[in-house]
Amino acid sequence: MRWIVTGMNGTVAPRLAAALRARGEKVLAWDRARVPPGDEGAMRAFVDESAAGGICHLAMGAPEWAASMARLCAERGMPYLFTSSVSVFAATQRGPLGVEVVPEASDDYGRYKQECERQVAAAHPEAIIARLGWQIGDAPGSNTMTDYLTRAAADGAGRVQASTRWIPSSCFLDDTAAALVHLLDRGEGGLFQVEGNPDGLSLNEIATRLAGRLEAGWDVIPTDDVVMDNRMLDPRVPVRSLSERLSRLTGS
Ligand SMILES: NC(=O)c1ccc[n+]([C@@H]2O[C@H](COP(=O)([O-])OP(=O)(O)OC[C@H]3O[C@@H](n4cnc5c(N)ncnc54)[C@H](OP(=O)(O)O)[C@@H]3O)[C@@H](O)[C@H]2O)c1
Repeated sequence: MRWIVTGMNGTVAPRLAAALRARGEKVLAWDRARVPPGDEGAMRAFVDESAAGGICHLAMGAPEWAASMARLCAERGMPYLFTSSVSVFAATQRGPLGVEVVPEASDDYGRYKQECERQVAAAHPEAIIARLGWQIGDAPGSNTMTDYLTRAAADGAGRVQASTRWIPSSCFLDDTAAALVHLLDRGEGGLFQVEGNPDGLSLNEIATRLAGRLEAGWDVIPTDDVVMDNRMLDPRVPVRSLSERLSRLTGS
C-alpha cells in the first residue's frame, strides 16, 4: 500500500509515516511547493500519477483543501484519514467527551477544525476523521506539550507552573501514530477520538512524571488556576495510556 501523507514537515505526520513504513508500506510526502493545495488540476494529476491507495491529511491548511482531497478519494473509492483536534470542544465542555457530544468550539482554531470536519464528512462520507489531543514527545522542538513545558521552564528559570485541576486530553506521539494505523486497518469511516489520558492525570501530574522521564530537572509547581477537563472518550480506539507510559520511572 502506498499512502500520500500531508504535513510531513510537521510533528505528527512523520511519526505516522514511520509507523506505516515500519509495516512495509510506502509513504509519499505531499510537497506543497510542487502541488499547490489550491490547484485542483495539479492535485488530481499528483494523486493519479502517485498510484497511491489512500491519503492521510495531517497538514494544516484550508478546509477547502481538506475537502478537495476527500472528494478525490471518494471518487476513487480510496480511504481518507483526516486529523482533527480536541480543540473543537469549548474549554467549558467538561470531559470525558464522547463522540456524541456536539462540539462548541470557542476559539478560531477550534472553529477552523470544526469546519474542516464538516467539509470532509460532506465530501467523503466514509472518511476517517480522528480527533487528537495534546501530543507528547520525548524531546522539545515541535508542536507538543513537551515543547510547551520546556519553554515554560526556560521562561521560569526552571520552574513550571502546572494546574492540578487541568486534565488535558493528551497522548504520546507514537501512541497516536499507532492508533491512526489501527483506524486505517479498521477501514471503517466516521468520527473517532484518540485519547491517551482516560485515567485523568492532571497537567501537574503529567509534567512531574515527564520531568522524571526526560530527566528535565523542571521544578513543577502545583497551581489551581486552570480548571479544565477536555478528555475525550472513544472505546473503539485502543490507545496506550499516559498512566502506563509514565509509570515506570516514578514507580506508580
Ligand atoms: N500537535 C498536537 O499537539 C496536536 C493536537 C491536536 C491535534 N493535532 C492535529 O494533528 C495534525 C498534525 O499536527 P502537527 O502538530 O503535526 O502540526 P504542525 O507540527 O504544526 O505541522 C503542520 C504542518 O502542516 C503544514 N502546513 C502548515 N501551514 C500550512 C498551510 N497554511 N497550508 C497548508 N499546510 C500547512 C506543514 O507541513 P508541510 O510543510 O509538510 O506541508 C506543517 O509542518 C493537525 O491536524 C493538528 O490539528 C495536533
